[in-house]
Amino acid sequence: MAEIRKVAVLGCGLMGSGIAEVCAKAGYDTTVREVNDELAQKGRAAIEKSLGRAVEKGKLEASARDEILGRITMTTQLADLKDCDLIIEAVTENLDTKNEMFRELDTVCPEHTIFASNTSSLTIAAMAAATNRPHRFVGLHFFNPVPVMKLVEVVRSIATDADAFRVAYDFASSLGKTPIEAKDTSGFVVNRLLVPYMLDAIRCLEQGLASMEDIDTAMTLGTGYPMGPFVLCDFVGIDTLYYISEIMFEEFREPRFAPPPLLRRMVTLGYYGRKTKRGFYDYRGEKPVPMALV
Ligand code: 3HC
Repeated sequence: MAEIRKVAVLGCGLMGSGIAEVCAKAGYDTTVREVNDELAQKGRAAIEKSLGRAVEKGKLEASARDEILGRITMTTQLADLKDCDLIIEAVTENLDTKNEMFRELDTVCPEHTIFASNTSSLTIAAMAAATNRPHRFVGLHFFNPVPVMKLVEVVRSIATDADAFRVAYDFASSLGKTPIEAKDTSGFVVNRLLVPYMLDAIRCLEQGLASMEDIDTAMTLGTGYPMGPFVLCDFVGIDTLYYISEIMFEEFREPRFAPPPLLRRMVTLGYYGRKTKRGFYDYRGEKPVPMALV
C-alpha cells in the first residue's frame, strides 16, 4: 500500500498548529482544516509565529521557513482532504464533534487513507466505530509544545490492522519524534500516569500539605521535572485536565482519576490556566503569582 505523502490536520489550535508545523517541516504536503476563515487565519498565524521564532534564534533559515509555509494549505472544507493519505484529528475533546467529521471524511477519502486522532483521553475504538474503516484507525498522540516534545504515542485499537499501525509508527519517526506503542485504554501511557499525579497535587493543596509554590518547587528541584505540577496544570489547561479526568474516571471508575472539587470550582469560574490568564497562578501581571484558592 502507498505510504504517506499528503497529510491533513483537523483543527489548528494549540495542538493542531504544532502538528501541522512538524508535518510540513518534515516535508509533507499538509492541509489544515479549520471550521471558519477567522480560525484558519489565526491558526496559520500561530504556525508563522512559531517558525519565525526559530528563524530569530538562528535555528532555521528564512528560506526554509518559506518552504515549510509553502507546504501548508488552509481550508474550511472537509472535501478538500479527499486525496490525503493520513488525517490527524486535533479538535476539541468532544466525541460527537470528532465523529461527525470522521463520518463525513469516511465518505470522501479513499480506502487507503489512515485516520488518526490526537485525543488525550477518548478511546480510538470510540471514533473508529463511527467509520467503515476501524482497521485503518490509529491514535497519534502528540505533546505540548509539539515542536519541542519528542514523544508520539502511537495507539493500536483492537481493530487496527498491522499495516496501518506500521505506517503510522514510521510516520511518527519520520517527523523526528520517538514513537512508543500503546494500547487503546483511556489516557494511553503518559496521561494514565501524569493525570493522577496532577490531580494528587491538587488534593495535596486542598489538604494543606504545603503551599502551591512549595509543591511546585519540591517537584522541580526534588525530581528534576521541568515544571511543577501546578505550573504544568496551567500549561495544559485546567479545562482540558478536567475533561480528561472525567473521561478517565468514566473509563476506570477509580477515585484517583476523579476531578477534585477545587478543579471543578476553577472550571466553573473560567480559571483555565495560562490561556485565560488565571489558573493556579495569576498571569495578569509582570510575573505569575499564586492565586488565593484555598
Ligand atoms: N514552540 C516551539 N518551541 C518552544 C515552545 C513552543 N511553544 N516553547 C518553548 N520552546 C522551545 C524554546 O524555543 C527553547 O528552544 P532552545 O532551547 O532551542 O532555545 C526550548 O523550547 C526551551 O524553552 P525555554 O527555554 O523558553 O523554556 P524551558 O526551558 O522552561 O522549556 C518547556 C519550556 C519545553 C515547555 C519545558 O518547560 C517543558 O518541557 N515543560 C513540560 C511540558 C510537558 O510536560 N508537556 C506535556 C504536557 S501533557 C500533554 O501535552 C498531553 C496532553 O494530552 C494533555
